[in-house]
Amino acid sequence: MLKRILLSTAATAAALALGFLIFAWRSAIAEVSPVAVAEFSPEEIEAGELVARAGYCATCHTVAGHAAYAGGYPMDTGFGIVHSTNITPDPDTGIGSWSLEAFRRSMHEGVARDGSHLFPAFPYDHFTLTSDADIDVLYAYLMTLDPQPEPEFANTVPFPLNIRLLQAGWKLLFFDEGRYQPDPAQSDIWNRGAYLAEGLTHCAACHTPRNILGARIASQAYDGALVEDWVAPALTRANMAPADWTEDALYTYLRDGANATHGVALGTMGPVIHEGLMALPDTDIHALAIYFADIAGTSGVTANSAAVAAALDVSAIGLVEQQNADARLYNAACSSCHSNTSGVLLTARPELALNSTLWMDDPTNFLRVVLHGVSLQAGDPGLIMPGFAGRLSDDDIVRLSNYLRETRTDRPPWADLAARIEELHGDRATGQ
Ligand code: HEC
Ligand code: HEC
Ligand code: HEC
Repeated sequence: MLKRILLSTAATAAALALGFLIFAWRSAIAEVSPVAVAEFSPEEIEAGELVARAGYCATCHTVAGHAAYAGGYPMDTGFGIVHSTNITPDPDTGIGSWSLEAFRRSMHEGVARDGSHLFPAFPYDHFTLTSDADIDVLYAYLMTLDPQPEPEFANTVPFPLNIRLLQAGWKLLFFDEGRYQPDPAQSDIWNRGAYLAEGLTHCAACHTPRNILGARIASQAYDGALVEDWVAPALTRANMAPADWTEDALYTYLRDGANATHGVALGTMGPVIHEGLMALPDTDIHALAIYFADIAGTSGVTANSAAVAAALDVSAIGLVEQQNADARLYNAACSSCHSNTSGVLLTARPELALNSTLWMDDPTNFLRVVLHGVSLQAGDPGLIMPGFAGRLSDDDIVRLSNYLRETRTDRPPWADLAARIEELHGDRATGQ
């Protein structure tokens, strides 16, 4: 009896393993000789560049000191480092020998030309939604870049997670292959926004929390997440900013990287705008704004006057309180650039009382800005903010943070600020 049970268990296990292998196996697609540039029209190449910008391919596929698109950017997946690959048309180290079919499969299914499964650090779970037409012009653009020979970078994902076949298991659990299906109940422009957001511009890759296996938690879409030591705030009704993310506010923020009723785009959001969205036409930015206004529940809301009036009311707190040591600290360090007493909001003087960084439960973004400042390229290009690491003591930064949180928001005090500041000092090298 026992023998029979053991045998049938073994047979079931073998059948399951075989089933998994059949499910997981992908054949190699034959190599082709690099496609001649003349095969593609200038219009295709130009359209492909826009697709590449919308997908921030260069941001992830470039590492400082090396050619654009030649790969090597290290991504910490939580399980080890995965490097982006060379996607220039070099036949040996890039994708020069990939046919259009192989390229489409990689973008839609996360499978390399040789049949191996790619890690989801490459956001193919978003790119799968992208239309064939967009993938085809993207191919034209990439195939006409200068080929860049580049040695491979060694990943540090440990055994057995580095077995690529096992990635098929991840796909079985978390990946839906398929192109974007328009929602007929919504307008064309809403659908265009959804097509971009969910696919190419993969906003959820940073703004949606993930489970322990690194997959996005569908029921918490856009609820905010900590990625690469930056908080990507909630874009739903759970967003903490006191002013609404109206369609207008979203439009100016996504178009320029700054919005006077909220603040400026820093950290990993900077390149999303300055290396990506900047290239897209206004209609696409409008489409994204319409889609995210819907997600934030602000469609049809046009004014933020009450929130702005309340913020301007508290903006001057501390300016004349010479007997309060915390207010003196704020005056000495911040108020010359941040208080708005003229009654007019300016993007160049982000109003702290309206800024998400001060309202969120997690102080990370606020502390990173205070410690390391804002460089000329980040945020609103052309503006800088000095960093205060080394100028203010950690203790002063704790007092100042508590003071601003208490006087500018109605949120409870942040906990463990000193420990968090200590950790964030180390981020200086990767600052903004
Ligand atoms: C968030 C970072 C990120 C973005 C954005 C990104 N990639 Fe990647 N990509 C990666 C990583 C990491 C890998 C390597 C995955 C692996 O080794 O399994 C990769 C792999 C690839 C591959 C497989 C290449 C090979 O040699 O196996 C292709 C093709 C590719 N990316 C194209 C693109 C294109 C085109 C875009 C823009 C539309 C893009 N990627 C945007 C991170 C990114
Ligand atoms: C690579 C990660 C990443 C991606 C991709 C990304 N974001 Fe962000 N986003 C962030 C981070 C980090 C912040 C916080 C920036 C700050 O504090 O200045 C942010 C901030 C924002 C804000 C401001 C929220 C607030 O309350 O201050 C909006 C709006 C936003 N992102 C929308 C988008 C949209 C729309 C997309 C897709 C087109 C997108 N993001 C893609 C990381 C990302
Ligand atoms: C010399 C002027 C100056 C001083 C002093 C200054 N800031 Fe700033 N701050 C700026 C500017 C300008 C920006 C926007 C930078 C950009 O867009 O590139 C900014 C941005 C910020 C942001 C980010 C806002 C956002 O939208 O993400 C925070 C938070 C902030 N400052 C807090 C402070 C605090 C706290 C102090 C005092 C310790 C301070 N700043 C001192 C000029 C200053």
